[in-house]
Amino acid sequence: LGPNVYSPIIMPLLIQVLILLWLVNFAPPLLAYLFEARWAGPVDRGRTLPDGRRLFGNHKTVRGVVGAFAMGGLVGSFLGFLWWEGVLISLLSVLGDLLTSFIKRRIGLPDGSVAPGLDQVFEGAFPLLYIAPAYKIGPWSGVGIVAVFSLVAYVGSLFQKNLLLRRPHGDYGRRRLTPRVRLRELVACEIASHPLHRFLNFEDAIYYHLFMKNVFRALGIYQRGVQNALDIGVNHLTLFFETLPQAFDGYRILFITDLHLDGLDGLTERVQWLIEPLETDLCILGGDFRMEMSGPSRKAMELMAQVRDAIHAKDGVYGILGNHDCLEMIPVLEAQGTTILLNEAHPIDRCGSRIWIAGCDDPHHYRCHDLNQAFAEIPPGSFTVFVAHSQEIYREAEHFGAVLYLCGHTHGGQIQIPRFGPIFTHSRAPRQLGYGPWQHGQMAGYTSSGVGASGVPVRFLTKGEVVLLTLKNRS
Ligand SMILES: [Fe+2]
Repeated sequence: LGPNVYSPIIMPLLIQVLILLWLVNFAPPLLAYLFEARWAGPVDRGRTLPDGRRLFGNHKTVRGVVGAFAMGGLVGSFLGFLWWEGVLISLLSVLGDLLTSFIKRRIGLPDGSVAPGLDQVFEGAFPLLYIAPAYKIGPWSGVGIVAVFSLVAYVGSLFQKNLLLRRPHGDYGRRRLTPRVRLRELVACEIASHPLHRFLNFEDAIYYHLFMKNVFRALGIYQRGVQNALDIGVNHLTLFFETLPQAFDGYRILFITDLHLDGLDGLTERVQWLIEPLETDLCILGGDFRMEMSGPSRKAMELMAQVRDAIHAKDGVYGILGNHDCLEMIPVLEAQGTTILLNEAHPIDRCGSRIWIAGCDDPHHYRCHDLNQAFAEIPPGSFTVFVAHSQEIYREAEHFGAVLYLCGHTHGGQIQIPRFGPIFTHSRAPRQLGYGPWQHGQMAGYTSSGVGASGVPVRFLTKGEVVLLTLKNRS
């Protein structure tokens, strides 16, 4: 590097340039993470050259190019460049990126392949065609910028390819691989949990573990809250439907959600005692088996095995994942005899009639729900019971034709204040969907207050429940 790199005037400029280039480079994968398949049309519109290969390939999308321009303009302005300079710098960077893709396709490298150096050099160097003369950056400083940019961008591309886009194990067949799902695994699963994760979660570590727990202790009501949390009951509910097949008239579904079994001693035994005598046709588990959102899940799974043994459901037990769960739990739960619906549906047949149970992955925290996939096999007009951890996708579920929407997540507020109601519902849905039966258009819904408690294992003015639903044909 030239000596001017170390001058106090040029140094910040070089860092500003690097930050701008990295963020412009980061815009396309960020948009791919946020929007997945939406607006992901390729820049080359599928065009191939006489060599039979694509001009750029599927990874260079119009969305990514527009996002890079927007990022350049916004971040450029923020960093002290003129807005049009930011856009111009991102345009040059995008042209470098497209040239890289063009070269990679010509030499036969597939979409998404990593080519160290080639992947970054044009993207980092082209913007200097404007920046270097405009800001009097010398050739050695320019080389330094390209080298540092390339190194960090290469590490970023390795992270994306080897962690966010790599199948971690063979049992991935029915799961659509997306960076969003992989990020969930990296954050929530015990294999990747970080000791600092819990302390970085403000709500969990500060609000619940430090503040609320001590507030209740100081008020002398902590133990009463724990007793309230253990005082769960069976809520009997009958729902009437015009479209329920006659063969399913009187069909009983046991809905159990938000168990958080490892968070409260005595809860598992209480649930077992409640559900052991219940003879039902089907059982649905609404997710949140574990107390914490990361770390070990073994204890929760062991307790879940005890609960599973107490369930008597002729047509089986189906479950979904909540925001406290991780994908590692699926093989354990399935070995216990629970079929997990990860954006999937299963038919239930009776006397020549059929209804469907559709379930999706967590729509609240990880937003891994995929209703297109969950409803893909269900013929239009079918009687479909849809289960999601939270009620936040009620509009989408009705649009896809769900007749009944079962969910939990809110714990009925868990802690309520007289006359005001829940302090938090932890949900983006309207508060009237926070507990009990509700209706949206043609779809009936039920939000259960769940079995367990999360954060602090106490309840005030709410009661935990398992729900025994009876479906009735209105006619
Ligand atoms: Fe929960």
